[in-house]
This record gives sequence, C-alpha cells and structure tokens, in this order.
Amino acid sequence: MQEKTINEYILSVSDIVVKYKRPLKAFVRSFGCQLNFSDGEKIKGMLIKMGYTMAEDEQSADVVIFNTCAVRENAEDRVFGNLGFLKHYKEENPNMIIGLCGCMAALEHVTDKLKKSYKFVDIVFSPSAIDKLPKLLYEKLSGSKYAFDTNEYNLSAEGLYQERDSSFKASVPIMFGCNNFCTYCIVPYVRGRERSRKPENIIQEVEKLVADGYKEIMLLGQNVNSYGKDLEEKTDFPDLLRKINAVEGDFVIRFMSSHPKDAGRKLIDTIIECEKVGKHLHLPVQSGSDEILEKMNRRYTVEKYMETIDYARSFIPDFSFTTDIIVGFPNESAEDFEKTLELIKRVKYDNIYSFIYSKRSGTKAAEIDDKISDEEKGERMTKLLAVQREISTESYRRFIGRTMRVLVDGKSKKNGLLNGKSDEFVIVEFEGDESLIGSFVNVKITEAKNWAVTGVIE
Ligand code: 5AD
Ligand code: SF4
Repeated sequence: MQEKTINEYILSVSDIVVKYKRPLKAFVRSFGCQLNFSDGEKIKGMLIKMGYTMAEDEQSADVVIFNTCAVRENAEDRVFGNLGFLKHYKEENPNMIIGLCGCMAALEHVTDKLKKSYKFVDIVFSPSAIDKLPKLLYEKLSGSKYAFDTNEYNLSAEGLYQERDSSFKASVPIMFGCNNFCTYCIVPYVRGRERSRKPENIIQEVEKLVADGYKEIMLLGQNVNSYGKDLEEKTDFPDLLRKINAVEGDFVIRFMSSHPKDAGRKLIDTIIECEKVGKHLHLPVQSGSDEILEKMNRRYTVEKYMETIDYARSFIPDFSFTTDIIVGFPNESAEDFEKTLELIKRVKYDNIYSFIYSKRSGTKAAEIDDKISDEEKGERMTKLLAVQREISTESYRRFIGRTMRVLVDGKSKKNGLLNGKSDEFVIVEFEGDESLIGSFVNVKITEAKNWAVTGVIE
C-alpha cells in the first residue's frame, strides 16, 4: 500500500479533530537557536492546518510539543525538568498528547530515557522529520501507544505553512545541517549533513514576506557560508545575498551563522555593496588560542580570523562584529584563556555570546580527559564577561552623535522606553509611541551603555 502524503495525513487528523464537541488546542514550546524556533513555527503551522487552535500555555492544551535543543547539557536538563510538569497536567487531563522533537529527539540516550522513564511522552520525531508530525499524530489519535520517528531523512522540507511569531521579523532557513564536525559540537550528529534550499525557493519566500510587510529577513543556517556547495547549480552565499538584496522593498537583511574558515573577502565585499544587508557580522571565533582552535577542529588561526575583521574595517572602520566564545574547552590553559581575552580586546566586539564548555557524549572532545575544574571555568567566565562589558560600553560610544536606522521591536515594561535593533544589530532604546513597533525610525544616539545605546527619534 502506498504511504499517505503529508496533506492526506493533515486531512485525516482534521477529520478526527472536528468530531470533538469543543475546539482542540495545541501548544508548542521551542528551545535553543533561531533555526529551532523556525521549525517551531512550521510545527504550529501544521497543527493549525490540522484544526487545532493555539493555546496560551501547556496546561490548557490538548497537544503539547516540546521542540528541544541539545547543544549544551543544561538545555537538556531544562527540557526534562519541564517534562516533569507536563506529567502533572496529564494526570489532570489524561487525553493530553505530549510530543518531543528538535535536536534532543535525535539522541539515542534521550529516546531510551523517554521510553524507560517518561512513558507519558507519546510522540517523538527528529529535526529532519518535522513533516512527519501529521502522520504520528494520526497514529496516536488512532490508538497507537507510541508514535516515534527518529530517522534522519536529509530533507529540506519545502512548502510547509509557517505560523510566524512576528508580523515584521521573519526568519528564512537557507540550509539545514552541518558538515564541519567541530569537536565539541553535537549539531552534525543530530541535524545531519548540509542540505541547501534552492535559490528560487528562497527568493520566492522572501518576495512574499516583503509583500506581506516584513521588515527584517533573517537568513539562517548552521554555517551559511557553505550555502550552495551541495546544489547542482553553481552558486554560493554571496550570490544569494545579492539576489535577495535585489528584491524590491524596504527591509533589512541579516544572517546567522558564519564560519570564519569560509567567511572571506567575497562575503565582506557583498555585505558592503548590498545596501539592504546590515553592516554587521556574527563571526563565532570560539577561542583566541590557535592550539585550542586546532583541538576544536575549527580550521583557522587567530591571524586568519583577524584578516577578515581587518579587511572589513579597511572599508568601514566601525564595522560591527559579534561572536560566540566557549570558555573551558577541555584542558584550556590559563594562557589559552588569556589569549581569548586579548582577542576580544583586539577585535572590540559589540557583543559576545559566551558559553561554558558542555560535554556532549558522542563528540570527539568528550573523549578528552579534562583536568580543569568547574570552579576555574566559572571564574574565567566571570572575568570574560567583565572584560566584555567594558569593551561594549567603549565600543558603543562610537555611535554617540550619529543617527541610526532602527527597526522598532517592542516596549520595555521596566522603563517604558521603546527598543529595537539598528542595522548594525545594536540594541537601541528611545522614547516613542507604541504604534511605531514594526516600523523603521531614525534615532540620534546620545548615550552608550554596556548592552545598548539610547537616543531620541529624529
Ligand atoms: N559547549 C558549549 N558551547 C557550545 N556551543 C556549541 N557546542 C557547545 C558545547 N558543547 C556553542 C558554540 C556555538 C554556539 C551556537 O553554541 O559557541 O557557536
Ligand atoms: Fe557545530 Fe561547528 Fe557545525 Fe557550528 S559549524 S554547528 S559549531 S559543528
């Protein structure tokens, strides 16, 4: 018998859902990175197509899906903690269906644990199988005990309806998976090999978003600079940026993340030449020590990394950089850590995202016998953050007196100010009316803090 298509499964589930005497509700909680949140929007989209309405919280939902992250152990612990709460809700409402997907669902130790100790979890599917949700939900609603699909499909699901969280900021995945195998990272094991979407599908999606009034297009991929390597057509990420830049309309283009090993001159030239691309690059360096970089299998040196920074700043002296840093990679010495501090002072990042190394079993780094204590790692982290706070304040001062274009994001409950992100991806705070949320305004900067700048609307 031929397998039903996704749309047939969607119809089969909606046939069951309409038979209930009340509207059924669903709740999706996403953890982790923006790619995962983008998957979460697609999961919500499928649930809506199947006849569910979105619930305000887990407690009032008939279907709860946890879309999980596996990058660090504490993310995993949080999910297991939250599952504990769901168990109580399910005791009150035994018909509640609980699903778990995202990166944790692709880890064997997690699925084993679910089967053994979390039997109340009904549906499990891996990140490359999100379009299997209608099938699994149908099986569960038809009386199956478990509905698990943790296979790796290597698909890049096209055409799924996406229930977007924002009406003016949209994320657009351009590729899935990662081939790099940095030694600390679990992503290549859970998200599979690189699969690029076809340029025409991406352009079409962007055109539609811009026509619908979206003002920020965030292109996503684990390593956007590998875009196109697996496509028949000869193309690359800078080519894609140029095509998106040519889409008519008033919007800002951002992207995340870039791997320094292949973020070269062509990328910088393209960012500079494309007027819609924010003059900002998130370039995760991870460490300022060449020895650690080698052990991480990052395939660049600090000097090579600096070439990209210096090249960009030879055109735009204020070019904005942000980065990711891992503190306490196994056996990172005090000298290695000092080199990271030196590097952040040299680059003058606007912001850094720093993480204490988390051991992920199955990765190469997990095999290293680590002699550095957790206490030492904690102290290094505190030091890193203190140094960066000073750098940020100093670095943000360059914007004082200047006018920045800001996409207004929201209003702070704390101080009543509006906030948003400038084209350089800097947080800007200012007084203004809530009706401005979702539009661009020009703000003249008057003050620099260690995490944002403030100013007045012009
Ligand atoms: N431990 C700590 N941080 C990690 N990252 C990835 N894997 C780990 C790990 N095992 C960080 C890297 C990456 C960011 C998304 O998460 O800095 O750039
Ligand atoms: Fe992980 Fe490295 Fe791939 Fe990023 S590039 S997802 S850090 S393996």
